[in-house]
Amino acid sequence: MLQVQDLHVTYPTPQGKVYAVNSINLEVAAGETVGIVGESGCGKSSFARAVMRLLEPSAERIVIGDVDVTSLPKRKLRPLRQRIQMVFQDPAASLDPRFTVGQLIGEPLTLTERHRAVRDKRVLALMDDVGLPVALFDRFPHQLSGGQRQRVAIARAIAPRPDIVLDEPVSLLDVSLQAQVLNLLVDLQQQYRMAYLFVSHDIGVVQHIADRIAMMYLGSIVEIAPYADIMESPQHPYTQALLQAIPVMDPRCSRIADKQILTGDVPSPLTIPSGCAFHTRCRFAIDRCRRSVPPLHSIGSDSLVACHLSAPSTESP
Ligand SMILES: Nc1ncnc2c1ncn2[C@@H]1O[C@H](COP(=O)(O)OP(=O)(O)O)[C@@H](O)[C@H]1O
Ligand code: SF4
Ligand SMILES: [Mg+2]
Repeated sequence: MLQVQDLHVTYPTPQGKVYAVNSINLEVAAGETVGIVGESGCGKSSFARAVMRLLEPSAERIVIGDVDVTSLPKRKLRPLRQRIQMVFQDPAASLDPRFTVGQLIGEPLTLTERHRAVRDKRVLALMDDVGLPVALFDRFPHQLSGGQRQRVAIARAIAPRPDIVLDEPVSLLDVSLQAQVLNLLVDLQQQYRMAYLFVSHDIGVVQHIADRIAMMYLGSIVEIAPYADIMESPQHPYTQALLQAIPVMDPRCSRIADKQILTGDVPSPLTIPSGCAFHTRCRFAIDRCRRSVPPLHSIGSDSLVACHLSAPSTESP
């Protein structure tokens, strides 16, 4: 289980403060996958890295499993890697080229298992889990294909059965490999009930794996809902526009009748627009949108949206 409350990330730059993540609240249950989707630069990686404490966020609360890690000092973070792991976009960059496959997958296990022979046995079982031939045990990352490298990164990540943050894990793989790796992730999750926070700029990728989808715009979640609801009836104008850009393959989902095209560039996170941050690109914007920030409010049992034009749910909680 993963829980984040009021998380912010800012970067000081010579041009001023970059507001990369602005107050994100999110919970991912054991065995659940939440897809974080948005255009490039909207703060997805900053959010993912902040949850991992790879950079220092400011947050009310970050809870991994049952441990509050919000202000855990750096030296206490290594044991935390038993509870949360990250898979990056580029496995070539995230795997140390000096180590063999066996050493790379075995490394996270050194904390809990001191005996080499026992560790190696676990490594072989993990290689089997992710579909890596045993013959690759002594190979180095540069001797592997891109797909095999990402399988090593996944085997490494799942070794301690933690929750997992995946930042664009298939976007550098070609399409046939993408499907294989996504299927592998689904199988592993069913086996081990890990929580996945799955970041992607491509909603088409996330739709095959996510239980819920959170749409991110300029550092904030603007809509979060079960996958089928987002695909069938997206409520936020940004979600509606982004969905128009992808071919909808899933036969459960109908197309959105009223076609909308997303125009204009994402504004700079140095100066986030007033009111609703999306108002500069929203074709429905009214005067109120420029003045007041729409809160993320409930519009049904599992759906939240931040738009002045969406009526709040009248259901009792
Ligand atoms: N180290 C950094 N210093 C300054 N700005 C950064 C840094 N890292 C990211 N940013 C800026 O923060 C914003 C969010 O970036 P990022 O989290 O990488 O977005 P995404 O993963 O959605 O593409 C972008 O405007 C990016 O330029
Ligand atoms: S609050 Fe206004 S500008 Fe923002 S998405 Fe809704 S209609 Fe568009
Ligand atoms: Mg990114």
